[in-house]
Amino acid sequence: DWTMSDYAKNYIEFAKNKIGDKKVLCALSGGVDSSVAAVLLYKAIGKQLTCIFVDHGLLRKDEGDQVEDIFTNQFDMNLVRVNCEDRFLDKLAGVSDPETKRKIIGEEFIRVFEQEAKKIGTVDYLVQGTIYPDVIESGAGDASVIKSHHNVGGLPDYVDFKEIIEPLRSLFKDEVRQLGMELGIPEYLVWRQPFPGPGLAIRCIGEITKDRLEILKDADAIFREEISRAGLDREINQYFAVLTNMRSVGVMGDERTYDYTIALRGVTTTDFMTGEWARIPYDILDIVSRRIVNEVSHVNRIVYDITSKPPATIEWE
Ligand code: XMP
Repeated sequence: DWTMSDYAKNYIEFAKNKIGDKKVLCALSGGVDSSVAAVLLYKAIGKQLTCIFVDHGLLRKDEGDQVEDIFTNQFDMNLVRVNCEDRFLDKLAGVSDPETKRKIIGEEFIRVFEQEAKKIGTVDYLVQGTIYPDVIESGAGDASVIKSHHNVGGLPDYVDFKEIIEPLRSLFKDEVRQLGMELGIPEYLVWRQPFPGPGLAIRCIGEITKDRLEILKDADAIFREEISRAGLDREINQYFAVLTNMRSVGVMGDERTYDYTIALRGVTTTDFMTGEWARIPYDILDIVSRRIVNEVSHVNRIVYDITSKPPATIEWE
């Protein structure tokens, strides 16, 4: 797309001049916006940019490794991956209230980021992946009223820097994706569905443990794989598995089982403020259900969520 290739060229030139030989810091989440913002800056100033990627262990299966691979191997970027799954799991132990989970994760995220940023020392600029809809919605009645959203937007107070840079501030989501493709970011990242800051913590209903997270990651990976295989991954705007805290009786071979129920969720929406449950074909649901029950231990029942938003929200917590 020529518009976005011009945008990239101009921005890179602008950033080179503005930043000179100064240091820049970026909080990379692995989502579309922060990734595109980071790569754009990297093209301008290379290793003067340091990205901190807090891997709280609540990402989807293999996601942390994918992020590391893209930014250190495909792009030779200065990436600090902080593996702190245990730290987050310790803090979350015994917690099942959704808002408390969000609060703990938000606070811990900032603490980890702060610690890592200190090691780097004073930076001149902090990059943020703010896009145009964030600008117009901030303060307005978005979903954050109902669920406290944890976004990196809270960071500036905690990091020592002189100025914020927001290279995507004038762009809509589809333009950000075009720009991402233009910059050579892999398609699967550029077209990634939205993923909440608190990650799988709010899809693991009730208490979060390593074992329960493992079950959820495996089930979710199968669901996503089959949706992609069916070519539905851009049609359904958000889809994921939820590990319920309910167990029920089943039978496997001659054995009675008493295991977890996985709920599948799929929604079609344009703004994520309202949405319809996605009409996934029965045959695909059937494949997903069979695969999860066969391949993921401690799961013996699959249900599909057929509520729209409102009255339900997209996430279960
Ligand atoms: P709900 O569940 O409120 O979700 O219908 C609407 C959209 O927001 C995402 N979401 C979050 N994103 N932090 C985030 O960054 C959060 O705490 C959070 N809660 C929900 C959700 O995935 C959906 O896209």
